[in-house]
Amino acid sequence: MDHFLYQNGVLHAEDVPLPEIAAAVGTPFYVYSVATLTRHFKLFEEALSGLPHMVCFAIKSNSNLAVLKVLGDLGAGMDVVSGGEYRRAKAAGVPDERIVFSGVGKTREEIHLALSGGIRQFNVESEPELRVISQVATELGVTAPIALRVNPDVDAKTHEKIATGKSENKFGIPIAKARAAYAEAARLPGIEVVGVDVHIGSQLTDLAPFEAAFLKVRELTLALREDGHAIRRLDLGGGLGIPYTRSNEAPPLPLDYGAVIKRTVGDLDCEIEIEPGRLISGNAGLMVTSVIYLKEGEGRNFLIVDAAMNDLVRPSMYNAHHDIVPVIEPAPGTEPEPFDIVGPVCETGDTFAKARDLTPLGPGDLVAFRSAGAYGAVMSSEYNSRPLIPEVLVSGDHFAVIRARPSFEEMLARDSIPEWL
Ligand code: LLP
Repeated sequence: MDHFLYQNGVLHAEDVPLPEIAAAVGTPFYVYSVATLTRHFKLFEEALSGLPHMVCFAIKSNSNLAVLKVLGDLGAGMDVVSGGEYRRAKAAGVPDERIVFSGVGKTREEIHLALSGGIRQFNVESEPELRVISQVATELGVTAPIALRVNPDVDAKTHEKIATGKSENKFGIPIAKARAAYAEAARLPGIEVVGVDVHIGSQLTDLAPFEAAFLKVRELTLALREDGHAIRRLDLGGGLGIPYTRSNEAPPLPLDYGAVIKRTVGDLDCEIEIEPGRLISGNAGLMVTSVIYLKEGEGRNFLIVDAAMNDLVRPSMYNAHHDIVPVIEPAPGTEPEPFDIVGPVCETGDTFAKARDLTPLGPGDLVAFRSAGAYGAVMSSEYNSRPLIPEVLVSGDHFAVIRARPSFEEMLARDSIPEWL
């Protein structure tokens, strides 16, 4: 459920009509709902109730400081994968005790930064990384709390570009080698083994792969305890999928996912960490764009909108589906027609949808892309020298710009021409 509904024939973000935001900030823009972010975060809190736990929002899905502040103030932890994301979590007021650091290629500088702050935990993805963390911790005279990310060789049954838990993927330490890696970790100075970490992929719509991976983590935890390691935290990653269409069968709910966690690892006396991104932010955001032209092609009609693949790359990158709806509800009885919905970028890949049924629209009409709050703004670029589009946050009947559209002067000022040219 989200808070983007039609009221009197006009699509609203909570109680704010989208045309009002469009008039204030121009199009295209992203808009996020505080009520939806809050609701989604609380679903995970409820799903894990009864277990000691921490829900760490995967910042990569939406890293706007205002969004992080909303979640941080609710008590969320944060899952970061770069020094930049770590700085964002801190800037949003999230304390180090609630930040976990994941990612396959943490640099020495990033490790130094997070260790100096007193980070909760590193999710370590290789033995070489473990050794560097040990060195940096020793130099700083501190102890680094670590979990090793294990690769359980489980098929997440999702898009190949976002599956991470098969042995051919670059992520984690093969589970068969995990006991040896933990033995090394226990011997290294400046390292404290606190847990086990796993993340098998994103947009999972079936709970069976989670169950398989968590059972492997369970088995490993028992073996590691036999080896003498005090495993007290299990980080089970993120990945629970969201509905991208209103018609399809809905993916499992956080409550069902929580039940799998409880069933598989709930009796191990561990604090459970999870790292959901998409489920919290995805359906808490829309991208709103306006129609520039309606162009009649041969046997097809193109709706050319002012947003493009640089603003929302998911359709061209993963063939992802986003529901696209008119902001002004069509009059009853208006017949939909198929349109190819495309942006202005000079690539055929700049196609959001093909033969999508929409009631006819004309230049200036507003159109909303649903489920755009995760992996939308964060993956945008300035390709074709298109300025990054603004982000807006709505709560109740008020809204605020939480990232402004840069001016062309600002964009150009970032480049410089050497004086010898
Ligand atoms: N934890 C780790 C270690 C991850 O790599 C990810 C996502 C998450 C948590 C959060 O997963 P989520 O709950 O959001 O599924 N750009 C792609 C998605 C990439 C996901 C990468 N890792 C997309 O637009 O579909």
